Amino acid sequence: MQKTVKDYIRTIADFPHEGIMFRDVTTLFGDPRGFRIAIDQLLHPYAGVRFDKVVGLEARGFILGGAIAHQLSVGFVPIRKKGKLPGAVISQSYQLEYGEAVVELHDDAIQPGEKVLIVDDLLATGGTAEAGIKLVERLGGEIIGCAFVVDLPDLGGRKRLEGLGMDVHALCA
Ligand code: PRP
Ligand code: ADE
Repeated sequence: MQKTVKDYIRTIADFPHEGIMFRDVTTLFGDPRGFRIAIDQLLHPYAGVRFDKVVGLEARGFILGGAIAHQLSVGFVPIRKKGKLPGAVISQSYQLEYGEAVVELHDDAIQPGEKVLIVDDLLATGGTAEAGIKLVERLGGEIIGCAFVVDLPDLGGRKRLEGLGMDVHALCA
């Protein structure tokens, strides 16, 4: 039997905090077949769909999003943690388990009406993705889909994004 995307991902216990089972996708990205099938499968539901931009969420969404944008021959746009983007930005805060974080998007990175695919490696609570969705929508982007390699369903991210009207695509749990 050939390996599936999930088979290439390793789980590391107690990282970055005790009790967290961290899904480490570096082993997926580091394998030539694993990386290729992940990109192919992330794009599979969108065959024939026209996108204008792929938006990747820091940090591992950059690796996936860059490859997907190349495959689609569209531009790639990063959403970064606060203070990393050099131009004028819009900012969005979101709740972490303890405290708050802020992500940012260049204010000219998306034009009104552009069709967007949002990409990240993992959907947990959905807080990061929701903040990204809000940023794209504040610039008038139309989000066609949100694609993840891993969905941790017990943490509720999929339901949260679907509640915002998003189409959520994930390769494994
Ligand atoms: C991870 C993951 C997602 C986010 C998902 O990133 O890559 O971006 O958590 O969690 P959520 O659905 O609960 O928001 P992390 O915060 O570890 O940041 P990093 O990619 O910069 O390491
Ligand atoms: N982000 C939030 N929870 C995570 C997990 N279990 N593995 C990797 N990234 C995460």
